[in-house]
Amino acid sequence: MIEIHRVFCNLACGLHPPSLDIAVALKKTGRLMAEPKTNELMEKIVSLCKRRGFVFQSSEIYGGINGFWDYGPLGAELKRNVKELWWNTMTRQRDDVVGLEATIIMHPQIWKASGHVDTFADMMRECPLTKKRVRADQVEPQSGIAYNYSGAEDTSVEPDTKTAVLLEEKLRREESNIPIPPISTGCADSFSFLLPAGKPPELARKAAVEFYVQRGVKKPKLLDEFTERLEDSSDYHPESRVKLSPPRPFNLMFKTYVGPVESEEGIAYLRPETAQAIFAQFKNVIETSRQKVPFGIAQVGKAFRNEVTPRNFTFRSREFEQMELEFFIKPDEAVEAICGNVASAALISNENIQHRTSGSQPSTLNPQPKWGWEAWHKYWVEERIRFYEGIGLPRNTLVEYWQKPEELAHYARATVDILFKFPFSKRDEKGELMGEELEGIAARSDFDLSQHQRFSGKPMTVFDDELKAAWSKLDASKHRALQKSYFEARLKYLTKTGEPVEKAEKQAREDADNLAKGIYVPHVIEPSAGVDRLILALICHAYCEDQAPDEKGKMESRVVMRFHPRIAPIKVAVFPLLKNKPELVQKAKEVRDRLRPHMTVFYDEAGAIGRRYRRQDEAGTPFGVTIDFDTLGEKGPELKDTVTLRDRDTMQQTRVKIDDLLPRLLEKIR
Ligand code: GLY
Repeated sequence: MIEIHRVFCNLACGLHPPSLDIAVALKKTGRLMAEPKTNELMEKIVSLCKRRGFVFQSSEIYGGINGFWDYGPLGAELKRNVKELWWNTMTRQRDDVVGLEATIIMHPQIWKASGHVDTFADMMRECPLTKKRVRADQVEPQSGIAYNYSGAEDTSVEPDTKTAVLLEEKLRREESNIPIPPISTGCADSFSFLLPAGKPPELARKAAVEFYVQRGVKKPKLLDEFTERLEDSSDYHPESRVKLSPPRPFNLMFKTYVGPVESEEGIAYLRPETAQAIFAQFKNVIETSRQKVPFGIAQVGKAFRNEVTPRNFTFRSREFEQMELEFFIKPDEAVEAICGNVASAALISNENIQHRTSGSQPSTLNPQPKWGWEAWHKYWVEERIRFYEGIGLPRNTLVEYWQKPEELAHYARATVDILFKFPFSKRDEKGELMGEELEGIAARSDFDLSQHQRFSGKPMTVFDDELKAAWSKLDASKHRALQKSYFEARLKYLTKTGEPVEKAEKQAREDADNLAKGIYVPHVIEPSAGVDRLILALICHAYCEDQAPDEKGKMESRVVMRFHPRIAPIKVAVFPLLKNKPELVQKAKEVRDRLRPHMTVFYDEAGAIGRRYRRQDEAGTPFGVTIDFDTLGEKGPELKDTVTLRDRDTMQQTRVKIDDLLPRLLEKIR
């Protein structure tokens, strides 16, 4: 889940109630379509999430905490299902991927090596009056009259005192080289306020006075007021309308201290991604799992980012979960040495793919030894899209966005973002939703392992016997060509790290010599997905309003969550037709107990059957089983021990033998 690579700040955690910041302001950039200020559909979805127990504000009884969300009973099941499906698809159903579960707090050097300490930042601007910060790239343009001041004089200081003070200050500065705190009779900081058209100037002056009072000027007299008309200026805070400070980087990692002393040495970070633990444990995993490159290590877990502007419900949260795979591959030079050539990524197209099927899961492409990084990258893009399709997000709800060269992180060779078209996504000039990132699939070369090798001093290389054997069969010109290409790639990496040229060249030569011996640092393809974003996408896609008959056959509108049965929080609801008929209740409980070991079952006997169906529609339960008098054989022996099986989406009911229920349902939910 790589967002734009960012540089930045340590923002104090805002104890504000989470706002549903789904408003997309009217943009005048011409590139974007105007959007309504609020998004009704999102409001309905957020309301349903709370009402039905999918998502709650964290710490709601204390007013909430911005950027943190809890999952209620249905949300917890949904999330668990999605994570389990990911884990099954990515690890258990493959021979070439193994799992890892690492700690959230790790050695702080990990974050030095990964670059997060130095560069994981957003450029931020601060309102000097309210201290509120905004991301420099997210300041909404505003127009109005700017009221500018060069400073303020303190009129509470008597004229004689003022002269004496200024004189004293002058003398002290002249006599001493030691910096002396200035004795001030005013403040020379400039201040600017953007007044909306038609508002009285007093508003600007009041804000300016407040600003100078904050800076110790007891009775400010504003200096050098001048005004100018501004159109679409991105220099002013959207709420306070005060001119923002210049952009400064703010690191997004949450800091804490390990041990009883709050000292520099004890500083540690809550992990901002799960990926780095995989790199740090690479050697242990390969040595214990009997895996060989190409192979992957998968991890699901919490990550934390002190986002400046958490927004769009759970989409951008400060605490979130990731599902990340680091798939290690041979450098292209090794593939070429072994296979004679490197397959082009164009091979991974619908016409050319070879499939292997596994159970009822969607078919998967069959990896080939001659795949280089481009083919592996394309393969993972396809696999990941297939995964989303398999849990109910059709391809037309997704966008496969290939990052442009200028958008790539410096170590990335290619990155594809898989976007989902959320109701709050912006629209392009054709009015199409542009989508927000669910997952990034990055080809990261050998950057990560090389960084950890450099910082830890421990080798992150593997020995590839296939490469060694193949190398001995190649002629000298092929050796030279492959080593030259490998040398250049290593040199490029090493010089970027700031190594002196000579040292970098020496190291790159050694690396190229090692390649000939079958030793290299593996490259990596990283499919990195955000769980919470995916849950929100699934909820948004599932939300549906349609018409359904009530008890008396009169049509009424219903809300139905059309989750794919694989991810639905509850798979089947079991209802006795009437709760005051012990035989019906007993039979219904028997059915519940037969199904329960295999799936989540919800037993409900309260209220009219129509209302019970409606409740399950809102929960997204795909199937409903009703035990009625026919089940008891009251209308004839041929219907005895049959139940009605209701389909949530079509609302059709079919009569099914109790003995057939389990296989029927299992087939649909797997
Ligand atoms: N590991 C990539 C990310 O967290 O964005």
